[in-house]
Amino acid sequence: MTTRLMGGLIETRIDSLTFRRIAEIVYQKAGIVLDTRKEALVSARISKRMHRLGITRFRDYLRFLEESPESGEPVEMLNAISTNVTHFFREPRHFDQLARWLDQWRAGGHARFRFWCAGCSSGEEPYSMAMTVREHLPGTCDVRILATDLSTHALKTAREGIYTPEHMSKVSGELTSRYFSRHHTAAGFHYRVSPALARMITFARLNLAQTPYPMSGPFDVIFCRNVMIYFDNQVRARLLGECWRLLRPQGYLVVGHAESLSGHLSQFKSMAASIYTKP
Ligand SMILES: C[S@@+](CC[C@H](N)C(=O)[O-])C[C@H]1O[C@@H](n2cnc3c(N)ncnc32)[C@H](O)[C@@H]1O
Repeated sequence: MTTRLMGGLIETRIDSLTFRRIAEIVYQKAGIVLDTRKEALVSARISKRMHRLGITRFRDYLRFLEESPESGEPVEMLNAISTNVTHFFREPRHFDQLARWLDQWRAGGHARFRFWCAGCSSGEEPYSMAMTVREHLPGTCDVRILATDLSTHALKTAREGIYTPEHMSKVSGELTSRYFSRHHTAAGFHYRVSPALARMITFARLNLAQTPYPMSGPFDVIFCRNVMIYFDNQVRARLLGECWRLLRPQGYLVVGHAESLSGHLSQFKSMAASIYTKP
């Protein structure tokens, strides 16, 4: 099947050989597993790249990808392949739990906190963490949030910190007025994260499939939610090994609701569904 591109015809369905090779490259570079059920999804996402590049055939795109330097098309291809679905206060139970830990630690006299949000997508998750921190700790506390992702597009959105009213639907009016400013644009209006919130977060590109990670920790809490689902057990085990190294004793690892560490020979102790501690 084909569609028209600037006078030429662009394929819309990938042949299985090219799909297998692209899936191999995606796995080698990012640990993301793409089985044949993902063929239609990959076709659709790669054909958008082809459109931009003026390439009409999947096998020509593959050649372009293989000949491109590491910092070129491979980065764009992973941007196109990655699923960046997220929203503010997604899985709200985790933010309630974070708030309880903050209250306990504050009562215990802690004043320095380090958090890592792994697979932060377009920023809604680390900004939700930052709002929770601001609501539960005095401004005198020393707090840093490291927020990392593979996708340079998602990170650009995250750093800009600009969201539409639809994106803001899960943020209460009170938190919106405290941590966002409203701006009018030709298309309507948008919300911009306050500098105070933005200052707490460092965004960086980090590929979770490439261990060891270039940080030394220790972190009090790691949020690594809805990312492991894309990996196989080998990549998950390496990721969990690094989370173990980077978490302080009695620190917490939070994964997505649909994810679990059961079946992994991990030393983490389960505290509640999707919440683990390093004893
Ligand atoms: C579905 S989103 C989840 C976002 C957020 N954690 C949440 O729960 O709402 C998955 C994110 O993982 C990122 N990701 C996928 N593979 C990755 C890898 N190998 N290294 C780092 N991030 C990766 C994607 O770019 C995407 O932004």
